[in-house]
Amino acid sequence: MTSAEAQQRIAQLRAQVGRHDDLYYRQAKPEIADFDYDRLKRELADLEAQFPESMEADSPTTRVGDDRLEGFVTFRHRQPMQSLDNTYSEAELRAFHQRLVKLFGREDLAYVVEPKIDGIAVSLTYEKGRFVRAVTRGSGIEGDDITANAQTIYALPRELKGASSRAAKGVPVPGSVEIRGEIFMTLAEFERINREREEAGEVLFANPRNLAAGTIKQLDAREVARRKLEVVLYGLGFCEPTPEQSARDGADLLGTQSGLHGLLKAWGLPTVERFWTARGIDETWRVVQELDQLRHSFAYATDGAVIKLDSFAQQREAGSTAKAPRWAIAYKFTAERAETRLKAITVQVGRTGVLTPVAELEPVQLAGTTVSRATLHNRDEIGRKDIRVGDFVQVEKAGEVIPAVVGVNLARRLPDCVAYVFPSQCPVCGTRVVQYDGEVAVRCPNVGCPAQVRRRVLHFASKAGVDIEGLGEAMVGTLVEKGWVKGIADIYRLRRDDLLTLGKSVEKSTDNLLAAVEASKRAELWRVVNGLGITHVGAAAAKELAARFGSLEALAEAPRDDLLSIGGIGDTMADAIIAHFNEPRNRDLVSQLLNLGVAPTTPMRPAAVAAAALAGKTFVLTGTLPSLSRETATAKIEVAGGRVSGSVSRKTSYVLAGEDAGSKLEKARSLGVPVIDETEFRQLLGE
Ligand code: IVH
Repeated sequence: MTSAEAQQRIAQLRAQVGRHDDLYYRQAKPEIADFDYDRLKRELADLEAQFPESMEADSPTTRVGDDRLEGFVTFRHRQPMQSLDNTYSEAELRAFHQRLVKLFGREDLAYVVEPKIDGIAVSLTYEKGRFVRAVTRGSGIEGDDITANAQTIYALPRELKGASSRAAKGVPVPGSVEIRGEIFMTLAEFERINREREEAGEVLFANPRNLAAGTIKQLDAREVARRKLEVVLYGLGFCEPTPEQSARDGADLLGTQSGLHGLLKAWGLPTVERFWTARGIDETWRVVQELDQLRHSFAYATDGAVIKLDSFAQQREAGSTAKAPRWAIAYKFTAERAETRLKAITVQVGRTGVLTPVAELEPVQLAGTTVSRATLHNRDEIGRKDIRVGDFVQVEKAGEVIPAVVGVNLARRLPDCVAYVFPSQCPVCGTRVVQYDGEVAVRCPNVGCPAQVRRRVLHFASKAGVDIEGLGEAMVGTLVEKGWVKGIADIYRLRRDDLLTLGKSVEKSTDNLLAAVEASKRAELWRVVNGLGITHVGAAAAKELAARFGSLEALAEAPRDDLLSIGGIGDTMADAIIAHFNEPRNRDLVSQLLNLGVAPTTPMRPAAVAAAALAGKTFVLTGTLPSLSRETATAKIEVAGGRVSGSVSRKTSYVLAGEDAGSKLEKARSLGVPVIDETEFRQLLGE
């Protein structure tokens, strides 16, 4: 490869790795498997090493993936959070050991082997033993303050044990300490949430890590509290007094990584389920393999082993590169794969008409379960991988809980096997499918397609919608098939006489169903809004919209600026809402529902309660608030019945001031107008 060619490839790889970093760390929606990502990054690192002239300070190989997001306050770590070098190869693990052998002049180095938890890195700060802050890794130098969200984690102690009585069991509690670990979600909780989403016709999360990452970055802590997160701790950041000082003072637990585990436990923190100590590389390698066997029984997804020098003194001596310590390495387990025959490809039609191809497989054992179906994602993906019916395919379940087809074994392809032709017509209603510009999804454009009607009605009636008991999958299927239900509004046109023809002794269930339908007319507004299935609008946004607009009619007429003034609503969602209600059919549905007697309720929410207090009050905003943007603060004031003005006068009720407040603050003081900060503001709102 010439230098020019290398430059070109390097630029390409940097762009790719940068994009996947963003998808993984910021959006929690990775598009490729960890293994493929690691391979891209490795290729980039190798090329950069070969062509040092190409090196840039800002290459993705020299920084840790950045998870910082708009809407969070950033916080500077007192000691940077590093990443780990990783490898999939035993030889490289042995090479890591040999470098340390050379440095220390001995073979029998003591290591600790721990599970590598597939979660989201977090740094917890305890001051005088009290929990004060949780921060994500961010850029490694500074991360997002997620304290409010972390406080929803049940197992996270507010106070370290031993903090109140200094002598407690001789466990020293440092004056100030950053404790590092991972936030994760158990498989059970992940499955519970996905089941709910499936019922609601929402897109499923691929694995617990993505779901946990998406949850911890929710701006609304109440939303976070509904999903159970957990935490496990394994490391120290900044520590005052330093571990060396403490070790000198006789606290020998602070001299080694294995001791640290004991100490974390003694402080009452959740620690790794198991760790091993081993001497020399042969024993270490054996232990890594033992961990590989055991990891499936752990509460968290474990995608590798972390091997660390046990002695803190040796760790200090080995030191670090800019990004990662030289005293530790992650050995990653390759995802489990199985090969099996692809019997058929079926195509499902979703609520919005998206056609999703599903692989029907010869059942095969994989990571402890029998797999007979796997996702094929979309049409392009099948083409890219040239997956054909009859092929032997590899199925993988990495961190992915939903198995996916990752490749084809071409050596076993039979000669008569033909390329798969994606249907050009909807498999349910026969309408020609379409693919919109910039979308990967192939859709059935017929809104009357029975498959779509079924899914839409199910979504409307689901637990996250108006919650009609008795309108489950089977019943909705029947109603659509009979032609009694052609859309959501028809739920309210069901006739008792028709339903009674469905079987012999269906009187009771029919009456129950009709009673549930009747009751749903008074469902909370957000449920109706969510039930409409507006693209990009989930339950959380539906709640915001319901609180802000108070009625379906007002929402359907909402100007874009009003939508955008709501905290959780950005351009994409605002556009989707407007497009939805611009569609005559959707407007018509709203009037039909209202004519049929649907009268959603709007219970008093905290904001509405506060309205009494804020009604008629005028606010002036100045400076930067710690966590609220100007737009969010404005929206909160307006929702609560207040008004925002640009200049301070005697009529101003409050000046809401943040950092770097200027002349408005002075004017308020001179006029004697009350000045409040964000905390006092939130108190006014009753938050
Ligand atoms: S030690 C300076 N130990 O994996 C050493 N990290 O790919 C820093 N991780 O950034 C990390 N389990 O977020 C360590 N037992 C473990 C871990 C672990 C998971 C994460 C951590 C790190 C990432 C590197």
